[in-house]
Amino acid sequence: MNKLVNQLLAVGSLAMAFGCSAPKAETPKTPTNPVGTVNWQIDASKVIAPIQPTMYGIFFEDINFAIDGGLYAELVKNRSFEFDKPLRGWTVLKDEGVGVRTLPMNTGNPRNPRFLRVQIDETGSGAGLSNEGFKGMGIKANVPHDFSIQVKAVEGNVSAIRIELIGTQNKVIGEGKVEGISNKWQTLETSFTPTKTESNASMNIWFEGEGVVDIDMVSLFPTDTWKGRKKGLRADLVQLLADMDPGFLRFPGGCIVEGFDLSQRYQWKNTVGDIDERVTTINRWNFEFDHRPAPDYYQSFGVGFYEYFLLAEDLGAEPMPIINCGMACQFNTGELVPLDDLEPYIQDAIDLIEFANGPVTSKWGGLRAEMGHPEPFNMKMIGVGNEQWGPQYVERYVPMVQAIKSKYPDMQIIAATGSDGSIFPNGEKEIEYLWEQWRKLQPEIVDEHFYRNPDWFRENANWYDKYDRNGPKLFVGEYASQSVGVASPDNKNNWETALSEAAFITGLERNAKVVTMTSYAPLFAHAEGWQWTPDLIWFNNLEAYTTPNYHVQKLFSTNTGTHLVSMQENGQEIKGQKGLYATASKDQKTGDLIVKYVNTTAADQDVSFSVDGVDQLAKSGTLITLKGDNFDVENSFESQNIQPKETSVEVSGKEFSLSAPAYSMSVLRINAGQFVN
Ligand code: AHR
Repeated sequence: MNKLVNQLLAVGSLAMAFGCSAPKAETPKTPTNPVGTVNWQIDASKVIAPIQPTMYGIFFEDINFAIDGGLYAELVKNRSFEFDKPLRGWTVLKDEGVGVRTLPMNTGNPRNPRFLRVQIDETGSGAGLSNEGFKGMGIKANVPHDFSIQVKAVEGNVSAIRIELIGTQNKVIGEGKVEGISNKWQTLETSFTPTKTESNASMNIWFEGEGVVDIDMVSLFPTDTWKGRKKGLRADLVQLLADMDPGFLRFPGGCIVEGFDLSQRYQWKNTVGDIDERVTTINRWNFEFDHRPAPDYYQSFGVGFYEYFLLAEDLGAEPMPIINCGMACQFNTGELVPLDDLEPYIQDAIDLIEFANGPVTSKWGGLRAEMGHPEPFNMKMIGVGNEQWGPQYVERYVPMVQAIKSKYPDMQIIAATGSDGSIFPNGEKEIEYLWEQWRKLQPEIVDEHFYRNPDWFRENANWYDKYDRNGPKLFVGEYASQSVGVASPDNKNNWETALSEAAFITGLERNAKVVTMTSYAPLFAHAEGWQWTPDLIWFNNLEAYTTPNYHVQKLFSTNTGTHLVSMQENGQEIKGQKGLYATASKDQKTGDLIVKYVNTTAADQDVSFSVDGVDQLAKSGTLITLKGDNFDVENSFESQNIQPKETSVEVSGKEFSLSAPAYSMSVLRINAGQFVN
């Protein structure tokens, strides 16, 4: 193993790399109050670049219980007894002295290795099992819930299983029963409607009779899922994503692609096909941070690659799968596949494209069709590796990309630049090294990540001004302003972080010529089960709330426009002078002129606009403002302190004045009819 990997092994864990060795964010400077009025000139006839429909997307990784215990509406934890401890999440229910024994049994099937043998010697007043759910179960009154179980009688007369949902004070809030257990494996199902809403319920299953039964895949789902799909996704959470109108969906990670070591890497083939044949795998965030241990964090793959593609389609977003390139997380083991053994990794990439796009007559296209989607998913891009770096990455990238391109020449390749340069063991040098390679190898898209303090985001709205307009396109695949330090558990989703991101995003948009895709990271966090903060959307078992950062993302992604146009103050683009940032775009579809502007200072600012390059402007426009009284404001389950407010503004001709309120982001939309050019 080379020196770099050894160094990383010495670093030991992502927590060390992100937490301890990371520079702490400095206390933000107090913004100076600007004086006077600023004059901004917009010329809609001067198009700087088209803004790609993919400009604002989402990055989905199963971190913070984002999927199992989150988006995936399954309420039973460890439903098929595959966790390291087969009964994790389960408790045996029995009277004192009454015999109920559980024996984890091996199925002989490596894709679903265990089932549970339950031996009931004497029922007494009841013998059964209780499941605690993920931080409890979120149960909704008046919503039918679907229960199912795979079961087989081995001996005796166990004839039925009674289901009870238990709420606070041990009250039964829902009941059902399945009958007809036979000596063959079968799935028994029932539906019942709970009488009470509870966020922290549990489920008991009671066996009627005595004897031995085998059980597996014990499952409970609410039926009010996204699009009403059986055993589907939480509708409230998907809706929040749909509201963002994302241009792409990057999945499944993130470090989860790489794994702590290669045995724990994300293998998409283990996540598709029959639900009980998907290979439960430990989630790499289970043990990553000592300060946030999550020993019950596994991946059931109820949401696997098929569901990710479907989600992208539902959202109208381009699917962007990221594939392991023979390297485990370089902040962890950094384990490498010898180059001679890379072939299965390459084949996984090739087969994935067939799964997404291939004809139904092909092996993997056929599986997609069998799963319910004969039409191709129309995948156009693939990420080769997540946060990989060093020559070992390039050595693996090259053969993998050669193979992909020789079969699928139009597939766009996304190359990594490692992690955020500020937390690299070797600093920005690693990124410089990779950029040298990418200039030679010319991937279509290069992915860069930024986890920095709010000041940095405000001060670097010009970051992409220096990038080669003729080089690869830029994907800012992960970024989030860290109020304390990278991966610090004390980071907040406060207004300072969100507004600083807004300032930075104007810089991404101003550089639409080279920046074609961007996404915040991470996306979701369970309020009781998170490992990493800040996050865009926080949820519990029943509800969710959106952060100031979410509202910033949503305002940009739903007010993008089709073309970036010229906007200047005294011949300069607006990129932080006097704490102000702005972009202008036009939307060829609606005829709207869209101006987005950010005031990061503590003072209201008068802005006078003059607009050229349009025949005329409508007499009134829509102004959407996000504003906080100070930098510390946050949202919570209880209060949406930061949320958009929409008003109508009168506009008198092509010259008009508006205010840029202190600590605010604004979006102005005015119809300009046909654009002149
Ligand atoms: O977003 C959290 C983690 O940060 C991602 O998994 C990884 O890519 C990055 O280091």
